[in-house]
Amino acid sequence: MLITVIGSGYVGLVSGTCFADFGHDVICVDKAEDKIEKLKGGQIPIYEPGLEELVASNVKAGRLSFTTELSDAVRTADVVFIAVGTPSRRGDGHADLSYVYAAAKEIAASLDGFTVVVTKSTVPVGTGDEVERIIRETNPDADFEVVSNPEFLREGAAINDFKRPDRIVVGLTDERAKSVMTEVYRPLYLNRAPLVFTSRRTSELIKYAGNAFLAMKITFINELADLSEAVGADVQDVARGIGLDNRIGAKFLNAGPGYGGSCFPKDTLALVKTAQDHSSPVRLIETTCSINDQRKRSMSKKVAEAVGGDVRGKKIAVLGLTFKPNTDDMRDSPALSIIQALQDKGAEIHAYDPEGMDSAAQLTEHVTFGSDAYEIAKDAHALVIITEWNAFRALDFGRLKKDMAAPVLVDLRNIYGKDEVAKYGFSYTCVGRPDQEI
Ligand SMILES: NC(=O)c1ccc[n+]([C@@H]2O[C@H](COP(=O)([O-])OP(=O)(O)OC[C@H]3O[C@@H](n4cnc5c(N)ncnc54)[C@H](O)[C@@H]3O)[C@@H](O)[C@H]2O)c1
Repeated sequence: MLITVIGSGYVGLVSGTCFADFGHDVICVDKAEDKIEKLKGGQIPIYEPGLEELVASNVKAGRLSFTTELSDAVRTADVVFIAVGTPSRRGDGHADLSYVYAAAKEIAASLDGFTVVVTKSTVPVGTGDEVERIIRETNPDADFEVVSNPEFLREGAAINDFKRPDRIVVGLTDERAKSVMTEVYRPLYLNRAPLVFTSRRTSELIKYAGNAFLAMKITFINELADLSEAVGADVQDVARGIGLDNRIGAKFLNAGPGYGGSCFPKDTLALVKTAQDHSSPVRLIETTCSINDQRKRSMSKKVAEAVGGDVRGKKIAVLGLTFKPNTDDMRDSPALSIIQALQDKGAEIHAYDPEGMDSAAQLTEHVTFGSDAYEIAKDAHALVIITEWNAFRALDFGRLKKDMAAPVLVDLRNIYGKDEVAKYGFSYTCVGRPDQEI
């Protein structure tokens, strides 16, 4: 199969590389010249474990290449995946589809022979119809089918998720397109990944339904964390107690500072907007969005209380900036809201993250970045863990105590407990575990 992927970001680059690793011939296209230059030079523009090696081996095998020239790459392709961004549209929360539609127009002009055009980007119901309309209008003679194939990979575990997916969802009606998509994913049959064929609109909705459900699950346990604090219960035991029920499941039940990232915030909002447009509101998701928004900023109150009620003029050391570990993605990270709220209250922020500091520097102001936990903790009045990178799971509290202005730990990911830090004289604040606080 000759596969062309338009958009070489987190999804496009991982998908293209994995398709090449399955044995397909893949061209990854991006209009960002610096990105393509880096990729041609063997550099990976994002942080994703294992990706550098996989790109290198497939480039070496001659199955993977990179270009900014969309038209040549489309002309030769059997399948063209659209994997461009669909961020929130400024002002109203709808998905911004301008990149998808621009890509569709460019693709249309270069189609040659029967080609399957696949939206891998997360797009609202009906986008496939519009992509089809745009292509037909731009190139009335083109022989093509538009298919929906949303992506479910998680940053930080993207290669494994792509190669061992829980399911592959494909939305189409045409039999020729079905046989092409079957061929594209044939290498995964060995892993018995269920291929769910459905209509294009259903496939588009499945992606949003999945993300909205997970966002709701996180928000549910976050509210239970607040309730646990109010009634003297332990939210981690609550999560375990309900998660062992197979109907509920243990995943996505870790209480914390609220969900962030490049998908959940924008996708929940876009689903709310789609539902409103169709006069069929999804009130659970509307509420989920507003609870989560408030939660992120409200975490600054925990920090203020931990330092005696007021952070004004105090140095706060923030550990972890990305929305989750093992990625450099800062999009909608809770850290951004928490830092802003602390700065609004007059705190001086010093921060460290293993991979996210370059992006964080562009998204924050007046933050001093350090090279590790110990450097930023020097003279700090509190150390606040926002992202649970493995590197933060075995901190040397004896050393931190000597260097900090006050031994105060605010653990927004519940990775420690009072027994571990009390012996070093630290006060401890966490989420939903009042019996663990000191
Ligand atoms: N990041 C994730 O974890 C994830 C997971 C599942 C689904 N998704 C969805 O996948 C889509 C892509 O997300 P991402 O995180 O990879 O985005 P991204 O911003 O990392 O990458 C998008 C890339 O597309 C390029 N691009 C835009 N228009 C182009 C055009 N006309 N021609 C060529 N290149 C173009 C951009 O330069 C950019 O490099 C989104 O719809 C997102 O919701 C993302």
